[in-house]
Amino acid sequence: MARIEAEVGKPQGGFVKWIDDRFPMTSTLKYHVTEYYASKNFNMWYVFGVLAFVVLAIQLLTGIFLTMNYKPAAADAFASVEYIMRDVEWGWLIRYMHSTGASFFFIVVYLHMYRALLYGSYKKPRELIWLIGMLIFLVLMAEAFAGYLLPWGQMSYWGAQVIISLFGAIPWVGDALVEIIRGDYSISDITLNRFFALHVILLPLVLIGLVFVHIVALHEVGSNNPDGIDIKKNKDASGKPVDGVAFHPYHTSKDLVAIIIFLMIFSAVVFFAPDMGGYFLEHANFEPANLTATPEHIAPVWYFTPFYAILRAVPDKLWGFILFVTAVLLPVFLPWLDRSRVRSIRYRGWIYKSALAVFTVTFLILGWLGTMPADGLYVLMARIFSVLYFAFFLLMPYYTAIDKTKPVPDRVVYHG
Ligand code: HEM
Repeated sequence: MARIEAEVGKPQGGFVKWIDDRFPMTSTLKYHVTEYYASKNFNMWYVFGVLAFVVLAIQLLTGIFLTMNYKPAAADAFASVEYIMRDVEWGWLIRYMHSTGASFFFIVVYLHMYRALLYGSYKKPRELIWLIGMLIFLVLMAEAFAGYLLPWGQMSYWGAQVIISLFGAIPWVGDALVEIIRGDYSISDITLNRFFALHVILLPLVLIGLVFVHIVALHEVGSNNPDGIDIKKNKDASGKPVDGVAFHPYHTSKDLVAIIIFLMIFSAVVFFAPDMGGYFLEHANFEPANLTATPEHIAPVWYFTPFYAILRAVPDKLWGFILFVTAVLLPVFLPWLDRSRVRSIRYRGWIYKSALAVFTVTFLILGWLGTMPADGLYVLMARIFSVLYFAFFLLMPYYTAIDKTKPVPDRVVYHG
């Protein structure tokens, strides 16, 4: 009977086996989920990767529904967003989820990156995970920038005007580059159309692809942990790391708690403070783009302001642009700038701890300065804190090399 069934191709052992004979489903799930061993001492800093996934899903899903009612034309865009807010059923919720999601994406990703600074997650053998992460960060910035033009409000228009014109400072190719980005001699309907294409198709596709390879690279070398210890060095007789627990169900159950708390905070903002006092949705953007009236203060959304403050701290346009780009790109080199023998801050000396503390304050103050007018004391402060920002990275090879470290234990520290 079995032989006959095999000959006529009837499934043997059920649906799962039928799939497994044709697609590596069970083995993939084992490798990436049920038999992916990650350190048992993960703390709250380890939830932001999963939360980034959650926000990505929110953005993709709400984005699809927004696209169904949004009109990417200079004459209609602003009105179509108002239509979504007032007439489309649940349109206000979808739109506020998407605009709040943009800010939460950056909050989550900044905290996710900060964890790497705490525990040296970018150090060998995880350099590639970090590099892919930095690519994700750059694409995310482009995605947010393109998305911000779409409502065609005052700040959409004038913010894009300031940032796109920066490229004009590049010698020889600058003017041509600006024209290519705008697709026109000024920001126009054409610019809006191409930004729409980038925002809804190209950049999300790139983002999804990058997140996929980010996880593949992570699972190749394994996750780091708050002690910065290589848990694969300590395995039991069956070959499992003694300090590791299976990602599912042990980490997934903890991650679920984090997701619920996250959704509670997210909902509170969506329902009670969607504009977050002008930080998540700038007030000037509730007015339609007016090509003849510049808003009093042009400031990007908060997640760009630390870099914007650095840009404005420099009087020369070209140098401002160079320092702005350098500030964004410097973290790319962290795996090679950091010469410490230990990964985790738990075993680092006072020099790195102080440097990171100063850097943290510096980044926050730069963020605040980027929202203030660029005059008087604010400019002076922006200059001082820009120097501190660059010093953190550029002096890192020296201070991490001389910093005294503590001995790293063989096993992870875990209080059950
Ligand atoms: C859409 C954005 C992103 C998603 C969905 C994502 C997802 C994840 C996930 C699920 C993990 C494993 C869980 C964890 O360690 O938290 C992870 C680890 C990691 N990610 Fe990301 N990530 C994103 C962006 C970034 C960015 C922008 C960077 C850095 C520039 C980055 C750097 C890292 C590093 C270094 C690890 C390994 C951490 C460790 O093992 O300690 N990721 N990511």
